[in-house]
Amino acid sequence: MITDLVRENIKRLLPYTCARDLYSKGILLDANENSLGSSVGEFESLTLDLNLNRYPDPHQNDLKELIGSHLSIKKENLFFGVGSDELIDLLIRIFCEPRLDTVIIAEPTYGMYKVACDINNVATKEVRLNDNFDVNINNIEAAFDPTVKMIFLCSPNNPTGNLISKKSIVELAQKFNCAIVVDEAYIDFAEQGYSIISEIENYPNIIVIRTFSKAWGLAAIRLGYCIADPEVISYLFKIKAPYNINILTRSAVEKAIENVNRKNEFVSILISERERLSKAFKNIKGITDVYPSDANFILIRCKNAKAVQKELAERGVVVRDRSGQIMLQDCLRISVGTEPENNKLIEQLTIVLNKN
Ligand SMILES: Cc1ncc(COP(=O)(O)O)c(C=O)c1O
Repeated sequence: MITDLVRENIKRLLPYTCARDLYSKGILLDANENSLGSSVGEFESLTLDLNLNRYPDPHQNDLKELIGSHLSIKKENLFFGVGSDELIDLLIRIFCEPRLDTVIIAEPTYGMYKVACDINNVATKEVRLNDNFDVNINNIEAAFDPTVKMIFLCSPNNPTGNLISKKSIVELAQKFNCAIVVDEAYIDFAEQGYSIISEIENYPNIIVIRTFSKAWGLAAIRLGYCIADPEVISYLFKIKAPYNINILTRSAVEKAIENVNRKNEFVSILISERERLSKAFKNIKGITDVYPSDANFILIRCKNAKAVQKELAERGVVVRDRSGQIMLQDCLRISVGTEPENNKLIEQLTIVLNKN
């Protein structure tokens, strides 16, 4: 039987799941995409003049030039992956010896860190954030041992929405001889200047990953980037598939950067809609907690979250139930939509919670 040939950890693997496995029709506020659209704008001419018969640049030089100069990041500190999901996997493969090493994940957080460790047969220790969902250094210290090679943090954190304090990240980088991976997928929606990237120079064990899937509205092109010490970048280049970033992706991101104002406009609309939604949620009977958010989604707590998710989906609004995660019993994560989508959400959520 072919199954006999499959690695045991892959047989046991619980794969990544999403709300769309259950509900895929209606207003989609479940995956923290950019509901307003993509920053590319007009799509015509995107594929004109491309040498589709040639492999793309394996050294990613043109991407480094384009995005490095746009973000004021030196080329030697940049690497591109097929979404940040590819970066998560590559980093684990660089630092962790399967079955020997360990990764600490500050929970509750994004599910792919654990799935990627499980695929690579690397053990994980899930360490709780504190009550404000910030890092609890004592909890990490208690879990730390010489097998720990990486700590995953997410700032702003998915699904709780808050930033992780810079002070804690620096303290971790100073204290522990391991890679501190900070996932800044949602950083564009946070206070300006909050990124940890300026500390990479001082602490080469801080590694930042980001994505074009959120603020830039380009989830479909699959482009993430890593900002890290040049030595880390050189290992990423060493192990990546030769031509990981395809030329259509490169062409789309070039257009998006030309249209950066569109992205900035999206971000400001989404932030103001986020604030409007938060206020509205606070006035809905049945919502017991509305957590502050620096991202393009909001975490709320209500009674019977699973049933509420189901009924909302039946009424045409898909949100994510996060009840399965530690500390998040009866929590729903709701992405910020367009103004009419948010109005429909408020209306339907009010009706559903009044009944429950
Ligand atoms: C925190 C976080 N990191 C990474 C990703 C995945 O990003 P990408 O689309 O670049 O793979 C997500 C997607 O939801 C996310 O929430």
